[in-house]
Amino acid sequence: MCGIVGYIGDKEAYPILIKGLKRLEYRGYDSAGVAILNDVVKLYKKKGKVSDLENFVATNDIHGKVGIGHTRWATHGEPNDANAHPHFSMNKDFVIIHNGIIENYAKLKDDLTAKGYTFKSETDTEVLANLIEYIYRKRDISAELAIRMALSRVQGAYGLVVMCKNEPDKLIAARKGSPLVIGIGKGEYYIASDATPIVEYTKSVIYLNDNDIAVVSRNELKLKTIQDKALTPNVQELSLDVGELDKGGFDHFMLKEIYEQPKAITDTFRGRITPDHKDIQLGGMLDIWPKMLQSRRIIIIACGTSWHAGLVGEYLFEEFARMPVEVEYGSEFRYRNPIIYEDDVVIAISQSGETADTLAAIKLAKEAGATVIGICNVVGSSIPRETDGGVYTHAGPEIGVASTKAFTAQVTVLTMMALKLAQLKGSISSHQLDELIDQMVLIPGKIESVLEKNEKIFGIAEKYKNSSNALYLGRGFLFPVALEGALKLKEISYIHAEGYPAAEMKHGPIALIDENMPVFVVATKDSSYEKIVSNIQEVKARNGKVIAVVTHGDEVIKSMADHFIEVPECSEYLAPLLTTIPLQLLSYHIAVMRGCNVDQPRNLAKSVTVE
Ligand code: G6P
Repeated sequence: MCGIVGYIGDKEAYPILIKGLKRLEYRGYDSAGVAILNDVVKLYKKKGKVSDLENFVATNDIHGKVGIGHTRWATHGEPNDANAHPHFSMNKDFVIIHNGIIENYAKLKDDLTAKGYTFKSETDTEVLANLIEYIYRKRDISAELAIRMALSRVQGAYGLVVMCKNEPDKLIAARKGSPLVIGIGKGEYYIASDATPIVEYTKSVIYLNDNDIAVVSRNELKLKTIQDKALTPNVQELSLDVGELDKGGFDHFMLKEIYEQPKAITDTFRGRITPDHKDIQLGGMLDIWPKMLQSRRIIIIACGTSWHAGLVGEYLFEEFARMPVEVEYGSEFRYRNPIIYEDDVVIAISQSGETADTLAAIKLAKEAGATVIGICNVVGSSIPRETDGGVYTHAGPEIGVASTKAFTAQVTVLTMMALKLAQLKGSISSHQLDELIDQMVLIPGKIESVLEKNEKIFGIAEKYKNSSNALYLGRGFLFPVALEGALKLKEISYIHAEGYPAAEMKHGPIALIDENMPVFVVATKDSSYEKIVSNIQEVKARNGKVIAVVTHGDEVIKSMADHFIEVPECSEYLAPLLTTIPLQLLSYHIAVMRGCNVDQPRNLAKSVTVE
């Protein structure tokens, strides 16, 4: 949420900042700005996309080798030019970019106003800029000390980068709650919210931890805590490849990522399924399995699409490992005084590894003594660093704001985890385990054949692109797929959509059904097949339009539905991995037909680092 980029070195800063902001735009895209220090600070900011900023800057002088840039997702203050970052302090000693929320900003603002400070924006960030300047001027101290003193008075979360007019050969970065990574070049440093703006210049990076402050000049990086304790930087090598960060010939990142799912799933089980398909090995779980075997309960914590993957996980763990599972929204769990036992195993699922509510919830669970593990996609992000173990999804960078390949990769990891735990508990026969592993390995190929239905799905999308509402139904393992299908549609096409367990339709949503209401039913052949056939009849009896995702060759539902999309036959436990794909494509096409920006839907952001 909000993208931060900074550069200090011997190259022109502006092209690096703009390119970096474009890479980070998935984090926020309501306004953007840059500030370059070259004797004086030149600051340009604009409401809108990074390209709007670029057009605005085009004819201006923007030379300089030290600078900062920001792309915003508004929290305090509407998206407009004034509220865009960077923010000057009142006397322009400092210029700052910030991600996060300063919770006590109102009190700090009142104090500063009483001291004669005025404000040009409604942001909490400008309050921080002025607080730093006030301390700096009053005490006549270094910029670094002023920043550390100011941050010790701040409540809330921040990832920030500051430039000081009087100390022009320096960038100062600090983190509490919002990620920052520093790239180390030759006589140059890069600072960013994630590694995507950095990877084409250097693979050596340092991830800041909460409470760290880094003072960076061309040839030196000093790392310390806000309390002035020196730290030794832990330099890591990025495995990210710059080629993964473009659209690869697709019109949108989302479409590319939908098509990448066979590879994402293959990469997620690579090296984890033994060549004879008889065993699953998850390196990050070796110390965790004994605790899981002792534990009486699993708690899955996540937000958004990751929460839907968590629901599939609940069904899998219960089915195979016979373990009770609770699936929680991070935001609800953290604030409702939950009961956490020391023998609980908490699984945090997060594509970004940075979602603030998920992160806070797992910190709470850790404090209560539970074992906490992560299923994350971004290597080196905060959740994997906070957890006792876990498993990375190897889906590759996901840039489209609506999550697609991360979801199927998360479900893949959960399937492997549930099967392995079941094996360790002895709650699955070796025959069933072998059979399911064999079937899992076939899933990427089966997804390829679902992707081949794209043209048909496009045709269905054309028929329903003007709908105002939609209902998604599924049962059992396919209920979370219905929720995810509805979420995809509403996020990117702005059509109101609800996901429901098919049988629950009778308790409310059935009242909405008429000849204008498309009802997407996920109804492959499984143990509740007969029941969902009845639910389809209930919809048809009320003239609803049924679009069904069915098992290849299912003549019964095909004869009842208005439209159908066939997926290959597979185990009901693996069906979420196949049935999700046509719903992703449907939403994608409908959104494109409606002229929506599918990669950057309004009001959303990919990485939600504020609560
Ligand atoms: C945002 C994104 C969603 C994502 C959710 C959770 O809302 O737009 O796509 O599912 O955050 O993010 P996480 O990174 O924790 O999976």
